[in-house]
Amino acid sequence: MMEAKMVLEVEKVNKYFHDPVTIQVLKDVSLSVAQGEFVSITGKSGCGKSTLLYILSTMDTDYEGELRIDGEATRMATPARLAAIRNEKIGFVFQFHYLLTEFSVLHNVMLPGLKLGKKSKAEVEHRAMELLRELEIGDHALKGANQISGGQKQRVAIARAMINDPHIIMGDEPTGNLDSRNSEIVFEIFQRIAQEHKRSLLVVTHDEDFAKRTDRIIEMDDGRVVS
Ligand SMILES: Nc1ncnc2c1ncn2[C@@H]1O[C@H](COP(=O)(O)OP(=O)(O)OP(=O)(O)O)[C@@H](O)[C@H]1O
Ligand SMILES: [Mg+2]
Repeated sequence: MMEAKMVLEVEKVNKYFHDPVTIQVLKDVSLSVAQGEFVSITGKSGCGKSTLLYILSTMDTDYEGELRIDGEATRMATPARLAAIRNEKIGFVFQFHYLLTEFSVLHNVMLPGLKLGKKSKAEVEHRAMELLRELEIGDHALKGANQISGGQKQRVAIARAMINDPHIIMGDEPTGNLDSRNSEIVFEIFQRIAQEHKRSLLVVTHDEDFAKRTDRIIEMDDGRVVS
């Protein structure tokens, strides 16, 4: 069998916070995610999951260790290169969604696509509408981003994360505010992204049933990967 291509690899990541006192929140964390793999991260509140995702998503560069995205070492990358990697290769869904409230739902989803600049505005809009419909929020496309419910906002954030067809989507509790029906929709979409589109997913979740159905669970405890 051909060896799976690694989309994300981290080796021996250590992370400290210094305020108010120095604490080590990540301890020798190593993990990798292959192309097309759907991986979940679980662990108690405060064990370091969000801190790890910020590092993996290249937004936090203050750590020790190695991070490679799609084979490219990020350690020496310039801030501009990191921004390009983020925009092109990584999609995020945060624990607290950050939609721009002055824009419509549709425009929020389109923004990373317009920023990447690889497709025309019409093509980006078409794809954004497709994603919104898949997530069953197509009818809300023209509303302001603050005129929809929390669960709807979360689905908008998911559509936005998918607009550039990234190699890997990272999510911090992407189904945290969703009822079981909408969690199921999101799970199925993630599964389809992995199986049919061979994209990778790395999702922090407290939902055990959700985690169990992913390809692999990474369990964290007190800053370490324990299984
Ligand atoms: N900016 C910061 N400064 C100092 N300590 C921090 C900072 N951010 C997080 N921490 C601490 O680092 C540890 C890990 O936090 P993190 O947010 O990664 O946890 P988590 O696993 O995502 O928890 P949850 O499941 O509640 O979201 C916690 O003890 C937290 O208090
Ligand atoms: Mg967290």
